[in-house]
Amino acid sequence: MPLTRFEKNLEDSTALLEKNGLAKGREKYIVRVAAPEGEKGPRFYLEGCGDRACLRMNSNSYLGLSFHPEVIAASEAAAAAYGVGPGAVRFISGTFQPHVQLEKKLAAFHGREDCMITSSAYTAIMGAIVTLATTDTIIISDELNHNCIINATKLARVKEKKVYRHLDMEDLERQITDSIGQCRTLLVVTDGVFSMRGISAPVDKITEIINGFNSHFARDIVLLVDDSHGVGALGATGRGTEEFFGARADVLVGTLGKAFGVNGGYIVSSAPVIRYLREKNPLYIFTNPITPPEAAAALKAVEIADSDDGRARIKHLREMTDRFTGGLIKLGFETIVSEHPVVPLLMRDTEKVNLMVRNLQENGILATGINFPIVPKGDELIRFQICADHTLHDIDYVLSVLASFPK
Ligand SMILES: Cc1ncc(COP(=O)(O)O)c(C=O)c1O
Repeated sequence: MPLTRFEKNLEDSTALLEKNGLAKGREKYIVRVAAPEGEKGPRFYLEGCGDRACLRMNSNSYLGLSFHPEVIAASEAAAAAYGVGPGAVRFISGTFQPHVQLEKKLAAFHGREDCMITSSAYTAIMGAIVTLATTDTIIISDELNHNCIINATKLARVKEKKVYRHLDMEDLERQITDSIGQCRTLLVVTDGVFSMRGISAPVDKITEIINGFNSHFARDIVLLVDDSHGVGALGATGRGTEEFFGARADVLVGTLGKAFGVNGGYIVSSAPVIRYLREKNPLYIFTNPITPPEAAAALKAVEIADSDDGRARIKHLREMTDRFTGGLIKLGFETIVSEHPVVPLLMRDTEKVNLMVRNLQENGILATGINFPIVPKGDELIRFQICADHTLHDIDYVLSVLASFPK
């Protein structure tokens, strides 16, 4: 039976997004990547753009590890040894040596007892929240948390869901106080780094507040931090938001698909938490893990991140970030200063954002326009992301192009 009315409704919705300039549209795909050459970092060629080389200022691959020859070699060797897919979920026959080695390495990297890898950070969060929260739990979540936290919270069958104002510690404290006597476990959830603006959650202050109230809850206050954008990019050795603030979450979620340059997600925590999740987390039990080549590549990437090579990359990343942020300020643009390689250029207007993104692309620069509803109205911005494979020449080129545009 033709779904005429159903499809018409969908078409009307997407047409409205397009009319309001909010549609993402069909993706432009990358057809070729050129290796770094001379003073230039890697360049990307997009379908339909002929031989215009693009500088990618919108990748999460903060440490530039996606093209690292040792990471690629690790992936190829694992594909030859184990095949390209796991062929089963973990508990049936889908656990390969690289999965186990990677979990050990990530647990050690974060100073935790154990680790569970998942097919993405999105599923790591969904699985952790849905599995750890019970009908005796109240979840308290920052209002600007990532979509995966919002959806996980919607899905979780809990006593109550509360939202505190973005980074507002007084509001968090108020909501914790209001929860006393209402539940046995309190689950406080926050992004480590808020990816639209590169701002971090003050994990030190959050843990201090939690410690002050923990005794009021029969089964503790549990802090869950999603540090997908922080790990690899923040802290002297890339341990992320925890290292930056000198504090620890009870359950930490990270991704293998951003600074580590591969794909997949993970949860690190104490042995009892991970043991329980292996028994109960549906997004671990009933869905395939990342592939053995991905796990082997990620293992190599974490090893590199945790070496002199990795620390040199972090240092360069920070220098390039400072140079770009400082350059934007000198040019009179509005930005937010932070150590994180997400550098927002606040335009505060959807049309201006879309025009600037098009202009940048015509000049061979890929950056992302972020409009409502991803950010609140009035906070529209262009998000630039600095990576360790950007060169001084690359950063100065982007600044020179921006200098030619009206503010
Ligand atoms: C805070 C946060 N969590 C999770 C994710 C999803 O990561 P992954 O691609 O590994 O699912 C993102 C990605 O944008 C993110 O910013």
